Amino acid sequence: METSDFRRMSIYQIWIRSFCDGNGDGIGDLYGVFEKLDYIASLGGDAVWFSPIYPSPKADYGYDISDYRNIDPDYGDLDQFRRVLDKAHGLGLKVILDLVINHTSDEHPWFKESRRGKDNPYSDYYIWRDPVIKRSRRRHPNNWSSQFSGPAWEFDEGRGQYYLHLFDKKQPDLNMDNPRVREEIKGIMRFWLDMGVDGFREDVITFISKHPGLPNGLPLLPVINGMKFYNHGPNLHSFLSEFRETAKEYGAIQIGEAPLTPVSAALRYVSGEDRVLDMLIQFDHMAADCFITEYLHHRFSLRKLKRAFSRWQYGLAGKGWNALYLENHDHPRVISRYGSERFRRESGTALAASYIFQQGCPFVYQGQELGMTNIRLDSIDKYNDVASKNLYRTFFRWQSKEKRLQRIYVSSRDSARTPMQWTGGENAGFTSGKPWFFVNENYREVNAEAEEKDPFSILNFYRRALKLRKESDVLIYGDYREYRPRSGKLYMYSRSLGNKRILVVCSFSEREQSFAFPAGFDPAKATLLLGNYPEGSAPESLRPYEAKVFAWE
Ligand code: GLC
Ligand code: CA
Repeated sequence: METSDFRRMSIYQIWIRSFCDGNGDGIGDLYGVFEKLDYIASLGGDAVWFSPIYPSPKADYGYDISDYRNIDPDYGDLDQFRRVLDKAHGLGLKVILDLVINHTSDEHPWFKESRRGKDNPYSDYYIWRDPVIKRSRRRHPNNWSSQFSGPAWEFDEGRGQYYLHLFDKKQPDLNMDNPRVREEIKGIMRFWLDMGVDGFREDVITFISKHPGLPNGLPLLPVINGMKFYNHGPNLHSFLSEFRETAKEYGAIQIGEAPLTPVSAALRYVSGEDRVLDMLIQFDHMAADCFITEYLHHRFSLRKLKRAFSRWQYGLAGKGWNALYLENHDHPRVISRYGSERFRRESGTALAASYIFQQGCPFVYQGQELGMTNIRLDSIDKYNDVASKNLYRTFFRWQSKEKRLQRIYVSSRDSARTPMQWTGGENAGFTSGKPWFFVNENYREVNAEAEEKDPFSILNFYRRALKLRKESDVLIYGDYREYRPRSGKLYMYSRSLGNKRILVVCSFSEREQSFAFPAGFDPAKATLLLGNYPEGSAPESLRPYEAKVFAWE
């Protein structure tokens, strides 16, 4: 197995606005990233995925792009990007950009042209439909909701038609059925790949082919009612094959974001030599404390989490490759969700062990490796995220302000978007200016500088875990098997390759637990490879959120 095999990689995700400010204007940028690349390499990262850094009006913080071939002035310029790229490559880090092609910004020149009329070269770049007139009133072309709630259609007075936007109204959906749009996408891919970029994370890529006729969805289902007719649409595979051809010319890696995707559907895209994507970012395991979206919160269920983990581990085994993650810019912090803020260090490290050693490429989201937790703001006006604000306005309106804020507190994407906590000094060392967003108050204890010095910090645990994985073919390629799936307290799984075996045991309990090694795993012959407590303990006992990794030769 060659070392360039993408399956060996660990990927670090940067949401640049909150990562590190290099020029003191309060906004993270590529100058800051340049300084911190060594940190990412020291963590054990093999690649950096940048959430969008292109020019954008930021209705959805970069996921609304107004120019695909440039860098947003807030973050630097193309020259600075090239410097970051070169330095990253020098450190052995690949660079993966976010490719957002389901939609553009409404301020993209294509959309500005498109809305001007039905007969210019860009008229068919977007999805326009005439109003439906009922009882002489203007109605939406169908009943689809936007993913950010509210209708998925916006009327444009100039053109006299509605345009489709599956996200915010400032994010009109591109018409991928138009071959000229697909040529544009390939041109954009080449632009970055020619510069030396190593691949793409492809935003909501399973939404890009809409069902012809755009039929009505289930009337009463909120937010996702139209999904049946735009997720995994009829031409998705053929569009992805086209893009794959371009990526292949460069040997570029492609990771697709795939909301509400079952294993069976995933296999169509990620299995075999002629796969059209290398990995999928699926959402199953992100719903262990909610129904579909974090806003519909319920108590965390370890069993639900484990079912999702194992479904994908068994489902892709020998056929595809998993993207392993617990956090990104779209989800609240995992310790606040699946762990315990009280046992922050213990649960943060146990959570790390619970996913990094599964089969797949581990992703680490900025601040996750420090054990950053959710921020609690006392008014909806202080939150930024368009999704949170819309949900707050739309649902549970009969509930008190406090209850609805509590829903935002457990669900908001803003918790992942607070400035990175580098030091215990002013503004957590994120900026010398005024930070663009609230810094979590716990930065005095939770920060990279303090954790560097503490051998048992979450940061140093991530380092050890990623190193262990990188050096072990068992952990990279080995078969996965879960034990005691019905336990509501423990998550136990093994990886095996040839006669080598590794067993990972993680407690999700605030109390002491004990366990027995599964049949065939002889306790007398086990070596402890990694644990998350400074002092040792009897092999088959676990302290609160203790995690142990054992090996058999
Ligand atoms: C993806 C992104 C998310 C964005 C949405 C629309 O889910 O990860 O941040 O809001 O797509 O582009
Ligand atoms: Ca800056």
